[in-house]
Amino acid sequence: MTPETERETEGTRVAVVTGGSRGIGAAICRRLTGDGLTVHLVYRDADDAAERVSKEIGAAGGLVFRHKADVSDEAQVRRLVDSVVEQDGGVHVLVNNAGVIDDRLLALTRTAQWERVLRTNLTAPFLMCRAVVPVMLEQSWGRVINISSNSVRQPGPGQTSYAASKGGLEALTRGLAAEVGHKGIRVNTVAPGAIRTDMTADLSARLGVSPEGAGWGLPEDISGLVAFLASDEADYIQGQTFTVDGGRLAMRPRGSKSGA
Ligand SMILES: NC(=O)c1ccc[n+]([C@@H]2O[C@H](COP(=O)([O-])OP(=O)(O)OC[C@H]3O[C@@H](n4cnc5c(N)ncnc54)[C@H](OP(=O)(O)O)[C@@H]3O)[C@@H](O)[C@H]2O)c1
Repeated sequence: MTPETERETEGTRVAVVTGGSRGIGAAICRRLTGDGLTVHLVYRDADDAAERVSKEIGAAGGLVFRHKADVSDEAQVRRLVDSVVEQDGGVHVLVNNAGVIDDRLLALTRTAQWERVLRTNLTAPFLMCRAVVPVMLEQSWGRVINISSNSVRQPGPGQTSYAASKGGLEALTRGLAAEVGHKGIRVNTVAPGAIRTDMTADLSARLGVSPEGAGWGLPEDISGLVAFLASDEADYIQGQTFTVDGGRLAMRPRGSKSGA
């Protein structure tokens, strides 16, 4: 764990953001620290990217701590959450953002490839929630925000494992919301459309898909809604999935006939 700035943290809300080194997660870390939260940024491999984001946040006056941990590993999740609680005394906001995609047709998907996607996108949020929710219950306050995808409702060819993992994550959101809603914990999902990040850098080339009509979104198009869901203002919002896709799902596909 690496502190970027020294600052008094008494009374400040504490957030854990998985996959905070790049893309959408980095934007969420920037936004939450900008809103005054202490953020624990979790990443798996990209030391340079994590350091860059942390330094940038520190330079802007935010308070961020870096943790290198594989959130699909039970023991590492336990150590991570223990160290955050030991340092800051609690966790108020958990953003399960870390994710992977591995596009290939179902018939050509090996079991290990399927399991890696499910383990990162669905089991990891389960492990994180299981470790963090008891802490939130003690506080009688908490926010869990899971990052899903439009692919649940509109999967491209080859996205079976990804869509299944994110569909499971949305179901996890509703299930957990039903369990802990009466204890002051809110659990919601944000489902982005096509956002320009490393994950989508070669999307057009690989699948021949482009987010026609709706255009590409930016990580900051997601982080604003996450910040709102993490706030007191979202107290009456529970178990929901919010699509942020520039209207892509709402639009009729190009070339399709208009009719009743
Ligand atoms: N970009 C889109 O268009 C889009 C659309 C819909 C949904 N989403 C979802 O939004 C989330 C963020 O996507 P993104 O585009 O920002 O992805 P990205 O640029 O590929 O970044 C992924 C992040 O997840 C981290 N990560 C992956 N596996 C991990 C693990 N096992 N343990 C810890 N950290 C791990 C990576 O860490 P390292 O940097 O160390 O590798 C990185 O910080 C994902 O859940 C994704 O499915 C993205």
